[in-house]
Order: sequence, then structure tokens, then C-alpha cells
Amino acid sequence: MIPRRVSPDLERAPDRIAARGGALGRPLHVLATTPSTNDEAKHAAKKGAPHGATWVAEEQTDGRGRQGRSWVSPRGENLLFSVLLRASCPPSRLPPIALVVGLAVRDAVARAAPDADVRIKWPNDVLVDGKKIAGVLVEAMTMGKRVEAVIAGVGLNVLTRSFPDEIAERATSVALVAREVPDRAELLADVLANLDRDLHVVVARGLGLLRARLEACDALRGKRVRSDGGDAGVASGIDDDGRLLVRRDDGILAHWSAGEVHLV
Ligand code: BTN
Repeated sequence: MIPRRVSPDLERAPDRIAARGGALGRPLHVLATTPSTNDEAKHAAKKGAPHGATWVAEEQTDGRGRQGRSWVSPRGENLLFSVLLRASCPPSRLPPIALVVGLAVRDAVARAAPDADVRIKWPNDVLVDGKKIAGVLVEAMTMGKRVEAVIAGVGLNVLTRSFPDEIAERATSVALVAREVPDRAELLADVLANLDRDLHVVVARGLGLLRARLEACDALRGKRVRSDGGDAGVASGIDDDGRLLVRRDDGILAHWSAGEVHLV
């Protein structure tokens, strides 16, 4: 059997990350294949891997998405990575941290595709023109009542130009929205640098000032939404704890904290 290889563009990632000088992406483990980079990070975290350690793979055989879904991506085309964040904080910080991971991805896509309207659909899907370009799966490792480490997994469609029929209407990639051929190593370095910039403030103080940046790229704001539980209303921003604000038809401002949200 021919061994699976890592493409030269991804092999350049450690240099691109080092050039940015941040704390995330070091060490960077570049894998040809793995069941799931989140699982790689989780196992390594249990063995003492440091803050910032990151796993990126050309292919996942059991990639996981939110809400128990799977994440499927053709080998060698996209970014599939997980970063270990050693953040000691209460569980209430997890939604803000997840939002900031989404924001880091959004900003990197916006830089690579300056003409595109890149938005975040709460809680942390990244959309371009209403189509999903990236998803984030944040998993926490807890000790007693505190979070001790967070694994932030990102699936970002970079080079894929044609999607399976079932998702073709709802999915896009950087290659489809940027003028130039995207560089996976540069995108990865950019996401990690963005996250490094914002992470500490969110862990220490919550969303705070980042709320304004999130609201400026909020895909749901002003739109009518429905939860899986059947509640409905108009999306009206995000609160300091990372919950979605929804103005219900009876005028009450509700704070939605979990689950899937659909545009109606
Ligand atoms: C979603 O939108 O449902 C989240 C998708 C997250 C997928 C990424 S790919 C890298 C990391 N490893 C996984 O198994 N999942 C995340």
C-alpha cells in the first residue's frame, strides 16, 4: 500500500506559523491521516501536551461535527485542525471561547477573500453569502467544576470546488470566493494568530469588547429564527455570555444558550 502523504503546501505551515510569532500552533503535528484531530488533541492533552499544540490532518476517517454529526472532507483539499488551549476558567466561558474561535476563522477567511461577505452564524458556523465555509467543534476537559483545557476543532473548506449534491446548495470554500488560489498554510497561521490575539481577553473577562466585532458580522441579526425546540423570534444580537438574543413575538427578549438555530 502506498503511504499517505502530506502535501507540500501544508508542510510549509510550521514556517508560516513561526513567522507570526504567536503561542498557538507550536508544536504543530502535521498528519497524513487520523480518525479525528480533536481526538488526537484530547489524547495528547491527557498526556500533558502544552498550550497551543495543534494537530492538522490531510484526512480524517471519523471527523466529528456539532450535534453528533460527522464532518466529511476530501483528502488534501481543506483545513482540518484542532488546537489545545490550556485555559483555566468556569464553564460559562466556553460559549464565548467558541465564538472567538469562529471569529478567528471568519477574520482569516475575510483576509483571504476581501470581496466576500463573511459572517458568523451563531454559535460558530462561518458563512459566505449564506453558505457554510467552516464549522467549529469546541470540546472541554474539566477538573471538578472548572474547565482546564479546551480543544478547538476547525473544519475550513479551502480548495474544494465541488460539493456532494446533498450539500452543494449550502456549502462553499475559500477557493470559490477568493480571487487568488488560497494557501492552506497561510490560512492556518492566520486563524491561529487571530485566536492568540483574542483568547486571553475572553478567558479572563468574557466577550466584552469583542461583542461589537461579533455583532458586525452576525449572520442572524434582524432575521427571523427558529430553535429546534420550536421557539421563534427575531435574532437581536449576542449577550456577554455568548448566548443568542431573540426578541420573541410576545416582546420578551430571550437568551438562547444551546442547540441549533434555523432561519425561517
Ligand atoms: C460543525 O460545524 O459541525 C463543526 C465541524 C468541526 C469539524 C472539525 S474538522 C477538525 C476537527 N476534528 C473533528 O473531528 N472535528 C473538527
